[in-house]
Amino acid sequence: MSLQIKTLDEYRQVYTRSVADPEGFWAEQAAEFQWKKPWKQVLKWNFREPRIKWFLGGKLNITENCLDRHLEKRGKQVALIWEPNDPSKKARKITYKQLYAQVCQFANALKAQGVKKGDRVCIYMPMTPELSVALLACARIGAIHSVVFAGFSAVSLADRIKDAHATVVLTSDYNARGAKNIPVKTVVDEALGLGCDTVKTVIVHQNTGDPVKMMEGRDIWWHDAIKGKRKSCKATTMDSEDMLFILYTSGSTGKPKGVVHTHGGYMVYTDFTFRNVFQYQEGDVYWCTADIGWITGHSYILYGPLLAGATTMMFEGVPTYPDAGRFWDVIQRHKVNIFYTAPTAIRALMAAGDQWINNRRMPSLRVLGTVGEPINEEAWHWYNEKVGKKRCPIVDTWWQTETGGILISPIADVTPTKPCFATLPLPGVQPCLVDASGKEITGNDVEGMLCIKFPWPSILRTTYGDHERCRTNYFAAFKNLYFTGDGARRDADGYYRIIGRVDDVINVSGHRIGTAEVEDAINKTPGVVESAVVGFPHDIKGQGIYAYVIVNDRLEDAAAFRQKVVDTVTKQIGPIAKPDKIQIVSGLPKTRSGKIMRRILRKVAEGDTSNLGDISTLLNPEVVEEIKVGASRV
Ligand code: PRX
Repeated sequence: MSLQIKTLDEYRQVYTRSVADPEGFWAEQAAEFQWKKPWKQVLKWNFREPRIKWFLGGKLNITENCLDRHLEKRGKQVALIWEPNDPSKKARKITYKQLYAQVCQFANALKAQGVKKGDRVCIYMPMTPELSVALLACARIGAIHSVVFAGFSAVSLADRIKDAHATVVLTSDYNARGAKNIPVKTVVDEALGLGCDTVKTVIVHQNTGDPVKMMEGRDIWWHDAIKGKRKSCKATTMDSEDMLFILYTSGSTGKPKGVVHTHGGYMVYTDFTFRNVFQYQEGDVYWCTADIGWITGHSYILYGPLLAGATTMMFEGVPTYPDAGRFWDVIQRHKVNIFYTAPTAIRALMAAGDQWINNRRMPSLRVLGTVGEPINEEAWHWYNEKVGKKRCPIVDTWWQTETGGILISPIADVTPTKPCFATLPLPGVQPCLVDASGKEITGNDVEGMLCIKFPWPSILRTTYGDHERCRTNYFAAFKNLYFTGDGARRDADGYYRIIGRVDDVINVSGHRIGTAEVEDAINKTPGVVESAVVGFPHDIKGQGIYAYVIVNDRLEDAAAFRQKVVDTVTKQIGPIAKPDKIQIVSGLPKTRSGKIMRRILRKVAEGDTSNLGDISTLLNPEVVEEIKVGASRV
């Protein structure tokens, strides 16, 4: 029987064991799955290169564990509920048996298009059931999926296609989001015009049915691709350490990097954490509102829940369409038991006013979760009182694209919660706090940079095509530690509270955005000489994007220029990276070695200019006063 921790004492025992004997502990968890061939060794690792392998020599296919394994017992159980954007349209319910058939059929379609084990398939699709089918079909035949969130621009999509050398792109005609109908296929056409020479085939799912242009010889409709294809497909045998997917994420430097996860460890860890953190019970309806374009969707809409044999819901729309009561309508209608969302959504719904939630009865709700960014006290209490009626534990789950699954989080109804605390590490997770010199900060009631000492099964293995980047980004800052990029506090009870990024990454509405990426994009606007981007506190988004821009000429029309900057960023990255504030400046505060003093820029953007520290060592201290004065007019 799969382990599900039920009491705090049990958690403490299991945790102690998982640290004393990680290999024994994870081998027990892994034994619950269908393996085509057992592993020979549980773990081999060093954080130096890094080289991390779990369940060495084991052969499996994750989709057999998501689908085939459940057919006998739950073939007729609903695996996937799809709630469409348009509330007047009927939800779609897909059983495990139907999902199995659809995945197999599409896997056969991919094979017919020449897709083989190890090929990279880029998926740029809205939140439709076919998106889930697409990921699983790739995994079924050993192709590596690389999902790109369908809100990214053509330029970003092209960068990701090129980096992964994808040969096939899967897309849809349009993306129905709120009142918008976004032409997704057109974005793919544009991206492929930017030199993605490896792409030979584009498979297009008809979602809204509005007209699109198809390119002869390259584009094929999804419904034509599956025509006549068999609804069973032997799962390709994969090694535990064969790549399952690539998912691009932003860092403090350069372009987004492709985080790599593998079949074996990712499977064991997402299943274990899903069942334990949310205390999933047989028959529960589980709803995670994330998009499959992000890691939360991969691990906790798709893989984790399906591995556990759960009923998982996918939502096509947005929280405020047609009104701010949408989430609550959906919870009531589908009798959702476990609800997992982001602080940004909670803050947006809270700001819309309590009339949307007052007098709602949502008795089905049992567990609430949050993810993606620090939750503020006000939002935590609102979530607890208005949504959970003070009877549902809130699991504040901390993790990252690179970690594959949740690392620090309460276990629902087991770990006593505290507002804004991710609380305690899950079994097998060994966090520590270090100071700038890499020295571990021991004891409680302390603050430092959050690192992890020991691998867990779904830790990233590499960054696609550039292992050295993986090493320098995560394993070089501190010897023998995985560095998360986050700062955290450990309180008197040993509970962790995540403070936020300590690197040049901004967390906007739970989306990770690299300041360097936004600066590169801004610098492509005609007339821009240089720019610097920092985050600032934003009531709804958590953090907003504040851009300081130097222009090469006197500006006639500042408003029109700002719009050009916004348009350029939208074109280069996508609407999620649009600056909220743009301040035009004559210079940026720099050290004598030419480094931008971001600390000063952050303070000004936060509206806190009382103590900017020593500025006398700057190359150009005079610019600080100008920036301070200018900020009040932005
Ligand atoms: O800063 C942390 C924040 O989100 C970052 C990871 O972003 P991403 O890879 O896009 O994954 C988001 C979904 C897992 C982290 O470095 N973060 C994530 N969860 C939390 C959080 N910050 C505070 N509390 C959380 N629960």
